Amino acid sequence: MAFFHLVFGLLCKALLVLFSLLFIAFLGYCLYIKYIHMKYDHIPGPPRDSFFFGHLPTLLKIMKKDGLVHDKFLEWSETYGHVFRINFLHSVSICITCPEATKEILMSPKYTKSKNVYKKLFNLFGQRFFGNGLLTARDHEMWYKQRRIMDPAFSSLYLRGLMGTFNERAEKLMDKLSELADNNTEAKMLQLINCVTLDVIAKVAFGMELDLLNYTSPFPKAIETVLKGMMHYVRDFTYEYYPRNKQFVNEVREACRFLRKTGAEVIHKRKMAIQNGEDVPKDILTQIIKTAATEEVMTEEDEEFMLDNFITFFIAGQETTANQLAFCVMELGRHPEILEKAKKEVDDVIGMKQEIRNDDLGKLVYLSQVLKETLRIYPTAPGTARDIEEDMIINGVYIPGGVTGMFSNFVTGRMEKFFKDPLKFDPDRFHPDAPKPYYCYYPFALGPRSCLGLNFAQMEAKVVMAKLLQRFEFNLVPDQTFDIEDTGTLKPKSGVICTIRQRKYKK
Ligand code: HEM
Repeated sequence: MAFFHLVFGLLCKALLVLFSLLFIAFLGYCLYIKYIHMKYDHIPGPPRDSFFFGHLPTLLKIMKKDGLVHDKFLEWSETYGHVFRINFLHSVSICITCPEATKEILMSPKYTKSKNVYKKLFNLFGQRFFGNGLLTARDHEMWYKQRRIMDPAFSSLYLRGLMGTFNERAEKLMDKLSELADNNTEAKMLQLINCVTLDVIAKVAFGMELDLLNYTSPFPKAIETVLKGMMHYVRDFTYEYYPRNKQFVNEVREACRFLRKTGAEVIHKRKMAIQNGEDVPKDILTQIIKTAATEEVMTEEDEEFMLDNFITFFIAGQETTANQLAFCVMELGRHPEILEKAKKEVDDVIGMKQEIRNDDLGKLVYLSQVLKETLRIYPTAPGTARDIEEDMIINGVYIPGGVTGMFSNFVTGRMEKFFKDPLKFDPDRFHPDAPKPYYCYYPFALGPRSCLGLNFAQMEAKVVMAKLLQRFEFNLVPDQTFDIEDTGTLKPKSGVICTIRQRKYKK
């Protein structure tokens, strides 16, 4: 009995010590948060919802209602100015719209990609995802080595060689649209275009034949699932712990495993071909294999690293372009006079010819303006983030180091200060003679970490749009929403449903 008393007494004491320690730690953490508030509260910003969670409840509320957090950032930018603060626990982010600071930070390799955002994307709900691939690598040396190796697969010479694939895959879309037109069936443009951009990246990057307009495949669903999962994972650290989200979290993990498993198969096949001395294309896949190792024997980490880049290119190289094209169709459908002008240019430059050549693309000036204006109002990859380690002054506001700098092209693209009447779709803002926007328009980001696929994407987008304008009349089905869906990337919520007719040519 005495023994049990002794044990019980010791247990109580241990618990008391434990609780005291936890209480002291909690108190210490509260004091630390208070210290952070005192350090950064001179930076303008909206009132916090709570001491601990800062502004997170407001943002979560918007997300739960399927709203757009970027609209809130825009509202806060208009209210609090070119630099405003957002708190969450002990971390502070600042949203920057000041062009000079945007230039200084994004153009310099000194400011690395934000730990809070990009380190997190290494995994997705515990499953390795982007890892140390090109998009998420934070260490400058590690990133630079990869970028240098990948560059040849994006040189203008190499891209010119992809025109055949862009044409061929876009032609499959035209066939599908002809079929829908003949059957008087509505076209879900986002979904159809998604098939094309996924077909293109699979083919030109990895030598895979998907032909998604004619065959079903688990790829589109897997990509949609990981993107949705990514948004919840990054924005709400509690998401995976709610039982109601368990099923979806498992689906995300499964989708992630599926993509990586496919990547492993594709890489293995290509490595075998290289070892057997076969003639392999100098495509993105070959470059990915080169980034992994120079040694004969590859480590497990090398293999994982290649898969990181497989995922990176599959995700980065497809959805953003598809969404841009769908938004573009949506805006053209809403603006018949702009549509007519774009059509006329296509008729003048391309005429009836089926194969669009690289030098035709340079002549489609107005179409370029339309595509640029689309990305101003609808930047499909809406922002980027950098760590700001050292103290600096932004727009007259002293920013102590240790914050995350957030740059939203959605916000700057819709600010009256930068673009008069910002919600008006007006491609003439990008007329070759118009003044260039000064560090307030960056849908492909800026500086060393800007999009590697910019030219790839815009060549592909122009080929698809030019063929569409050349062959079809399209009208938006009435009563659909023009709202934006935020799945990390931005896409048209309606899916852009159109009625389609073949164009009649005057003889
Ligand atoms: C309309 C289409 C596209 C848009 C709007 C877009 C936008 C962007 C943006 C904003 C970033 C910076 C992301 C960040 O800082 O977190 C980025 C990075 C990147 N994009 Fe794109 N992108 C597009 C198409 C493509 C395509 C087609 C590819 C590949 C074929 C691609 C490959 C990449 C890669 C590899 C990076 C990381 C670059 C680095 O850090 O070195 N993108 N893109």
